[in-house]
Amino acid sequence: MTETKTILSGMRPSGMLHLGNYLGALQNWVQLQEDYRCFFFIADWHALTTDYEDPGDIHGNSREMLIDWLSAGLDPERVVIFRQSDVMEHAELYLLFSMITPISWLERCPTFKEQIRELEGRELHTHGFLGYPLLQSADILIYKADMVPVGEDQAPHIELTREVARRFNHLYRPVFPEPETKLHTYPLVPGTDGRKMSKSYDNYIRLSEDPAEINSKVRMMVTDPNRVRKNDPGDPEVCTVYTFHRAFNPEELPRIEDACRNAGMGCVECKNNLSSRLEEFVQPIYEKRQELQQRSAYLDEVLEHGASQASKVAASTLAEVRESMGV
Ligand code: TRP
Ligand code: SF4
Repeated sequence: MTETKTILSGMRPSGMLHLGNYLGALQNWVQLQEDYRCFFFIADWHALTTDYEDPGDIHGNSREMLIDWLSAGLDPERVVIFRQSDVMEHAELYLLFSMITPISWLERCPTFKEQIRELEGRELHTHGFLGYPLLQSADILIYKADMVPVGEDQAPHIELTREVARRFNHLYRPVFPEPETKLHTYPLVPGTDGRKMSKSYDNYIRLSEDPAEINSKVRMMVTDPNRVRKNDPGDPEVCTVYTFHRAFNPEELPRIEDACRNAGMGCVECKNNLSSRLEEFVQPIYEKRQELQQRSAYLDEVLEHGASQASKVAASTLAEVRESMGV
């Protein structure tokens, strides 16, 4: 029998998730928990690497995100769910890795320059911001993860992780596997206004949206702008509504495409159809959230249990690392 592979991934605590976050990561995690030994964690220290000046409510955001994870079907009986700041070993491994990691490896990380540009107005020439991909390497290697499911933007960080593992193994002794990036392809959905779905624009639908709110959000969605009258043929490829059908209503897709192109269905009908699908999708997640919001002690328990499981693995890796490095 082949050994079960270990998967690790994390998310910054961004509060309640939207459908873009779900399709981009969580949906995949929920599937992976069936077949792998999984660690999923709330990367709360990472939030400080860019937002240290105005950290906001990291604690509350972590809790909201945890509720969404559980509501969407991550099962704490099956996977290890924890918060980074509950497992101190991450910090020690990060420190020890910092001894062997050339600064140039961090400076040449494409995300470093990119983010400094994108997040202008923040002072990001900090040790923590330069080093955060290395913190990520520690997050991954401390569980000896074989695979890391992430979006494309994170691929350079997994590459760095492999380099750090290689360097450590070469300098001391082989302790770490070189984890693979497990890119996952998923249907992208834009926000209701057609731009990227984002918390900073008011264009998102929450994963645990109140089903009663779905219809008014779908009604706001932009459609093919050239389809003015019901008997104008439409082009689904340029329509936001269609993108959602693709992600949440795949069975009806051919019929919808056809009816749109041949002006056999109006946009109102098409939107009503989508609303029903999305309502069905969010209903159980919304209900689960209502329930979990009342169960604060249970949520604490999930995190405590996760942290204790994660700590065991982390401590054992760290013991090997300390010994290898002679401390
Ligand atoms: N940096 C990741 C992000 O911004 C979050 C993250 C932190 C992570 N540590 C990780 C992802 C380890 C995968 C593995 O999305
Ligand atoms: Fe979009 Fe549907 Fe209207 Fe076509 S019929 S433009 S897919 S909303």
